[in-house]
Amino acid sequence: MNMLSKVEASWISGTLRTLWITAMAAPKVHLSTLPPEPVIPSKKPFKVELVGGKRYSWCACGHSKKQPLCDGAHKTKAQGLSPLRFVPEKDATVWLCGCKYTNNPPYCDGTHKQDFIVSAPLHEQSDS
Ligand code: FES
Repeated sequence: MNMLSKVEASWISGTLRTLWITAMAAPKVHLSTLPPEPVIPSKKPFKVELVGGKRYSWCACGHSKKQPLCDGAHKTKAQGLSPLRFVPEKDATVWLCGCKYTNNPPYCDGTHKQDFIVSAPLHEQSDS
């Protein structure tokens, strides 16, 4: 014995088909509120001679063309990511992270040697 009449089954089938077509035709939206992942501009750190008392902005998104420092590219290419601003107390030569995945920003902590960085594609800088 059927639980649904032929009319009911047809109505359910038609309704589901309409919902599916509507969902497939709807504009795609980005539902995530997570900030974007940084891209990898370099798989090695940058040796930088810092000047004590000077303000620096380390690029956290990877899109800057002035690596390892920020050039403002995050404003258009990685909204939700911000540079890390810091002021060294004294002059120092340091290794600033180039892969953008260090756990001790802005400094390299060796994360770039891990497989997920070694096997990841390098980001190609573009003018757009
Ligand atoms: S360059 Fe990113 S951790 Fe070394």
